[in-house]
Amino acid sequence: MDPDRENAAAEALVIIEDLRKSFQHMGSTLDVLKGIDLNIYPGQTLSIIGASGAGKSTLLHCIGTLDLPTSGRIRLAGEELTTMSSSRLAEVRNRLIGFVFQFHHLLPEFTALENVMMPGLIQGRPKKQMRDRARALLAEVGLEPRATHRPGELSGGEQQRVAIARALVLDPKIILADEPTGNLDSSTSDAIHELLFEINEEHGTTIVVVTHNPGWAERMPRVVRMLDGKVVEDRETGLRRGLPPESTGTETSAESSAPSESSASSPKS
Ligand SMILES: Nc1ncnc2c1ncn2[C@@H]1O[C@H](COP(=O)(O)OP(=O)(O)OP(=O)(O)O)[C@@H](O)[C@H]1O
Ligand SMILES: [Mg+2]
Repeated sequence: MDPDRENAAAEALVIIEDLRKSFQHMGSTLDVLKGIDLNIYPGQTLSIIGASGAGKSTLLHCIGTLDLPTSGRIRLAGEELTTMSSSRLAEVRNRLIGFVFQFHHLLPEFTALENVMMPGLIQGRPKKQMRDRARALLAEVGLEPRATHRPGELSGGEQQRVAIARALVLDPKIILADEPTGNLDSSTSDAIHELLFEINEEHGTTIVVVTHNPGWAERMPRVVRMLDGKVVEDRETGLRRGLPPESTGTETSAESSAPSESSASSPKS
């Protein structure tokens, strides 16, 4: 690693180096990630865009420890994921990562409140503590009055907000969202994206969103484009929190993003 890159990498929350992922399918090898280099910094919000099949979900799953890469390295908060045992991976996943998927994966027989509490209960955290935290998070996503509703008694956008509250319940360092609004109408989708920005500001959570929504992708402070298993573009939009710089007072957009981004994480072409 060159010194510039090493300095920047020291501050990164996620460091991905030459990440490759292949699938075996019907006797042949399908190369899906073909050498990804990417650093993600604490407190960043960024979108990953690119055509269907580019490898966006596969990359997110590797970062999120839901899938193992074929080769390469991923460090998350200083921990090397690629050589970890599955029990350690599960521990890291619980402690550091929150997921939001296109389909919320809420448990249908439990209420909104219980769904939000669930990751904590599975971890054996005290029930009262988790209930209080879940209540506070439901209030934060604007759903306190729906706490006793089951998923089937909530709208799509409300279900997704419960899923976001659930992703936050163990106070993760990073939220990985895979097309969180793919299933929603445009105004609900805007509200969900807005909520993600609010969470980023309130909690400092790093947020990575895979999205096909061009409007939203372009309003993120940082946009990473994938094509055919590679990062082909990694740029800062000059925006902060989805708003043009002039709407954000005196701060400049550069403050919202990573140190020496260009040397650290842009694809080297
Ligand atoms: N388990 C698997 N076995 C074989 N091939 C797979 C597997 N999972 C994904 N793929 C292939 O890997 C490629 C990338 O898939 P991935 O889901 O990462 O794409 P994506 O960029 O998220 O696309 P989309 O925008 O449609 O969600 C696809 O061509 C897909 O068919
Ligand atoms: Mg996908």
